[in-house]
Amino acid sequence: MMTKEEAWRMLNEAELVCTPDQVEQAIGRLGDEIAARLHERFPLVLCVMNGALYFCGKLLPHLRFPLTLDYVHCSRYGEGIDGREIRWKVPPPAHVKGRAVLVLDDILDEGHTLAAIKARVLELGAVSCDIAVLTEKQTGRPKPVQADFVGLEVPDRFVFGCGLDAYGLWRNLPAIYALKA
Ligand code: IMP
Ligand code: MG
Repeated sequence: MMTKEEAWRMLNEAELVCTPDQVEQAIGRLGDEIAARLHERFPLVLCVMNGALYFCGKLLPHLRFPLTLDYVHCSRYGEGIDGREIRWKVPPPAHVKGRAVLVLDDILDEGHTLAAIKARVLELGAVSCDIAVLTEKQTGRPKPVQADFVGLEVPDRFVFGCGLDAYGLWRNLPAIYALKA
Protein backbone atom coordinates (compact mmCIF):
# COMPACT_ATOMS: atom_id res chain seq x y z
CA MET A 1 0.00 0.00 0.00
CA MET A 2 1.33 3.44 -0.94
CA THR A 3 1.64 6.19 1.60
CA LYS A 4 -0.38 9.34 1.00
CA GLU A 5 2.83 11.17 0.05
CA GLU A 6 3.55 8.56 -2.62
CA ALA A 7 -0.03 8.84 -3.84
CA TRP A 8 0.35 12.62 -4.30
CA ARG A 9 3.68 12.16 -6.07
CA MET A 10 2.13 9.64 -8.46
CA LEU A 11 -0.62 12.14 -9.31
CA ASN A 12 1.74 15.11 -9.62
CA GLU A 13 3.97 13.21 -12.05
CA ALA A 14 1.08 11.85 -14.14
CA GLU A 15 -0.11 13.22 -17.45
CA LEU A 16 -3.67 14.51 -17.88
CA VAL A 17 -5.40 12.62 -20.69
CA CYS A 18 -9.09 13.57 -20.24
CA THR A 19 -10.36 16.69 -18.46
CA PRO A 20 -13.40 16.64 -16.16
CA ASP A 21 -15.38 18.46 -18.89
CA GLN A 22 -14.47 15.85 -21.49
CA VAL A 23 -15.54 13.08 -19.13
CA GLU A 24 -18.87 14.76 -18.31
CA GLN A 25 -19.59 15.41 -21.98
CA ALA A 26 -18.74 11.84 -22.95
CA ILE A 27 -21.08 10.47 -20.26
CA GLY A 28 -23.90 12.78 -21.39
CA ARG A 29 -23.48 11.64 -25.00
CA LEU A 30 -23.40 7.98 -23.92
CA GLY A 31 -26.62 8.57 -22.00
CA ASP A 32 -28.32 9.78 -25.21
CA GLU A 33 -26.93 6.90 -27.28
CA ILE A 34 -27.93 4.28 -24.72
CA ALA A 35 -31.40 5.81 -24.31
CA ALA A 36 -31.93 5.70 -28.08
CA ARG A 37 -31.27 1.98 -28.11
CA LEU A 38 -32.68 0.79 -24.77
CA HIS A 39 -35.42 3.15 -23.54
CA GLU A 40 -38.26 0.81 -24.54
CA ARG A 41 -36.50 -2.37 -23.46
CA PHE A 42 -36.64 -2.17 -19.66
CA PRO A 43 -32.94 -3.13 -19.38
CA LEU A 44 -31.08 -4.67 -16.48
CA VAL A 45 -27.95 -2.58 -15.95
CA LEU A 46 -24.94 -4.45 -14.52
CA CYS A 47 -22.18 -2.40 -12.93
CA VAL A 48 -18.79 -4.14 -12.99
CA MET A 49 -17.40 -3.42 -9.53
CA ASN A 50 -15.38 -1.56 -8.44
CA GLY A 51 -14.08 0.25 -11.49
CA ALA A 52 -17.46 1.08 -13.04
CA LEU A 53 -18.95 2.51 -9.86
CA TYR A 54 -18.01 6.09 -10.78
CA PHE A 55 -19.24 5.74 -14.38
CA CYS A 56 -22.46 4.02 -13.29
CA GLY A 57 -23.26 6.73 -10.75
CA LYS A 58 -22.68 9.48 -13.32
CA LEU A 59 -24.53 7.72 -16.15
CA LEU A 60 -27.71 6.63 -14.33
CA PRO A 61 -29.23 10.13 -14.06
CA HIS A 62 -29.01 10.39 -17.87
CA LEU A 63 -31.06 7.21 -18.35
CA ARG A 64 -34.59 8.52 -17.86
CA PHE A 65 -36.56 5.34 -18.50
CA PRO A 66 -37.44 2.23 -16.48
CA LEU A 67 -34.49 -0.03 -15.71
CA THR A 68 -33.18 -2.23 -12.93
CA LEU A 69 -29.67 -2.14 -11.48
CA ASP A 70 -27.42 -4.89 -10.23
CA TYR A 71 -23.70 -5.62 -10.24
CA VAL A 72 -21.02 -8.21 -10.88
CA HIS A 73 -17.62 -8.38 -9.27
CA CYS A 74 -14.77 -10.37 -10.73
CA SER A 75 -11.03 -10.44 -10.93
CA ARG A 76 -8.58 -12.22 -13.18
CA TYR A 77 -6.20 -14.83 -11.85
CA GLY A 78 -2.55 -13.84 -11.92
CA GLU A 79 -0.68 -14.56 -15.15
CA GLY A 80 1.04 -17.44 -13.33
CA ILE A 81 -2.17 -19.45 -13.24
CA ASP A 82 -4.12 -18.41 -16.32
CA GLY A 83 -4.23 -14.73 -17.15
CA ARG A 84 -7.49 -15.17 -19.02
CA GLU A 85 -9.44 -17.00 -16.40
CA ILE A 86 -12.05 -15.06 -14.48
CA ARG A 87 -12.65 -15.54 -10.78
CA TRP A 88 -16.16 -14.44 -9.81
CA LYS A 89 -16.51 -12.65 -6.51
CA VAL A 90 -20.14 -11.95 -7.42
CA PRO A 91 -21.24 -13.67 -10.65
CA PRO A 92 -24.00 -12.34 -12.95
CA PRO A 93 -27.36 -12.84 -11.24
CA ALA A 94 -29.83 -15.49 -12.50
CA HIS A 95 -32.42 -12.74 -13.15
CA VAL A 96 -30.56 -11.63 -16.28
CA LYS A 97 -32.68 -14.39 -17.90
CA GLY A 98 -35.05 -12.89 -20.46
CA ARG A 99 -33.68 -9.36 -20.01
CA ALA A 100 -31.92 -6.86 -22.24
CA VAL A 101 -28.70 -6.43 -20.27
CA LEU A 102 -26.39 -3.43 -20.32
CA VAL A 103 -22.95 -4.06 -18.80
CA LEU A 104 -21.02 -1.00 -17.60
CA ASP A 105 -17.26 -0.99 -17.13
CA ASP A 106 -14.53 1.58 -16.62
CA ILE A 107 -12.26 0.45 -19.44
CA LEU A 108 -12.08 -1.95 -22.35
CA ASP A 109 -8.42 -2.93 -22.39
CA GLU A 110 -7.51 -6.44 -23.59
CA GLY A 111 -11.19 -7.32 -23.31
CA HIS A 112 -10.90 -10.67 -21.53
CA THR A 113 -12.96 -9.57 -18.55
CA LEU A 114 -15.83 -8.14 -20.57
CA ALA A 115 -15.78 -11.09 -22.98
CA ALA A 116 -16.20 -13.47 -20.03
CA ILE A 117 -18.97 -11.38 -18.46
CA LYS A 118 -20.90 -11.15 -21.73
CA ALA A 119 -20.56 -14.88 -22.40
CA ARG A 120 -21.88 -15.71 -18.93
CA VAL A 121 -24.77 -13.23 -19.18
CA LEU A 122 -25.88 -14.74 -22.51
CA GLU A 123 -25.41 -18.28 -21.15
CA LEU A 124 -27.81 -17.38 -18.33
CA GLY A 125 -30.45 -16.52 -20.93
CA ALA A 126 -30.31 -12.74 -21.39
CA VAL A 127 -31.99 -11.76 -24.67
CA SER A 128 -29.22 -9.27 -25.43
CA CYS A 129 -26.06 -7.98 -23.81
CA ASP A 130 -24.78 -4.53 -24.72
CA ILE A 131 -21.56 -3.17 -23.30
CA ALA A 132 -20.87 0.46 -22.43
CA VAL A 133 -17.42 1.54 -21.30
CA LEU A 134 -16.28 4.91 -20.08
CA THR A 135 -12.94 4.43 -21.85
CA GLU A 136 -11.37 2.19 -24.45
CA LYS A 137 -7.63 1.67 -24.57
CA GLN A 138 -6.15 1.94 -28.05
CA THR A 139 -4.08 -1.21 -27.80
CA GLY A 140 -3.74 -1.73 -31.55
CA ARG A 141 -4.40 -5.45 -30.97
CA PRO A 142 -7.56 -7.42 -31.74
CA LYS A 143 -9.98 -7.83 -28.83
CA PRO A 144 -12.29 -10.79 -28.08
CA VAL A 145 -15.22 -8.43 -27.53
CA GLN A 146 -16.37 -5.02 -28.80
CA ALA A 147 -18.10 -2.29 -26.81
CA ASP A 148 -21.43 -1.03 -28.15
CA PHE A 149 -20.93 2.35 -26.48
CA VAL A 150 -17.54 3.99 -25.86
CA GLY A 151 -17.08 7.24 -23.95
CA LEU A 152 -13.45 8.17 -24.55
CA GLU A 153 -10.46 6.67 -26.31
CA VAL A 154 -7.35 6.54 -24.13
CA PRO A 155 -3.74 5.81 -25.14
CA ASP A 156 -2.11 2.43 -24.57
CA ARG A 157 -0.79 3.46 -21.16
CA PHE A 158 -1.82 2.75 -17.60
CA VAL A 159 -4.58 5.24 -16.79
CA PHE A 160 -6.36 6.17 -13.58
CA GLY A 161 -9.15 8.42 -12.28
CA CYS A 162 -12.94 8.34 -12.84
CA GLY A 163 -13.18 4.90 -11.24
CA LEU A 164 -9.93 3.51 -12.63
CA ASP A 165 -7.31 2.84 -9.99
CA ALA A 166 -3.53 2.81 -9.97
CA TYR A 167 -2.26 0.67 -7.08
CA GLY A 168 -5.73 0.84 -5.56
CA LEU A 169 -5.71 4.64 -5.52
CA TRP A 170 -7.29 7.67 -7.17
CA ARG A 171 -10.59 6.15 -8.30
CA ASN A 172 -12.09 9.37 -6.95
CA LEU A 173 -10.48 11.81 -9.42
CA PRO A 174 -12.87 13.65 -11.81
CA ALA A 175 -10.28 13.51 -14.63
CA ILE A 176 -8.25 10.72 -16.24
CA TYR A 177 -4.46 10.61 -15.99
CA ALA A 178 -1.75 8.37 -17.43
CA LEU A 179 0.96 7.08 -15.11
CA LYS A 180 4.38 8.53 -15.69
CA ALA A 181 6.01 6.43 -18.43
P1 IMP B 1 -9.01 -6.75 -19.56
O1 IMP B 1 -9.59 -8.07 -19.16
O2 IMP B 1 -7.61 -6.80 -20.03
O3 IMP B 1 -9.89 -5.98 -20.54
O4 IMP B 1 -8.91 -5.92 -18.23
C1 IMP B 1 -9.95 -5.17 -17.83
C2 IMP B 1 -9.82 -4.69 -16.41
O5 IMP B 1 -8.44 -4.40 -16.07
C3 IMP B 1 -10.57 -3.40 -16.29
O6 IMP B 1 -11.90 -3.63 -15.87
C4 IMP B 1 -9.77 -2.63 -15.29
O7 IMP B 1 -10.23 -2.93 -14.00
C5 IMP B 1 -8.36 -3.15 -15.43
N1 IMP B 1 -7.52 -2.23 -16.25
C6 IMP B 1 -7.08 -2.43 -17.50
N2 IMP B 1 -6.35 -1.38 -17.93
C7 IMP B 1 -6.32 -0.49 -16.91
C8 IMP B 1 -5.71 0.81 -16.74
O8 IMP B 1 -5.04 1.39 -17.62
N3 IMP B 1 -5.93 1.40 -15.54
C9 IMP B 1 -6.66 0.83 -14.54
N4 IMP B 1 -7.23 -0.37 -14.66
C10 IMP B 1 -7.07 -1.03 -15.84
MG1 MG C 1 -12.43 -3.38 -13.66
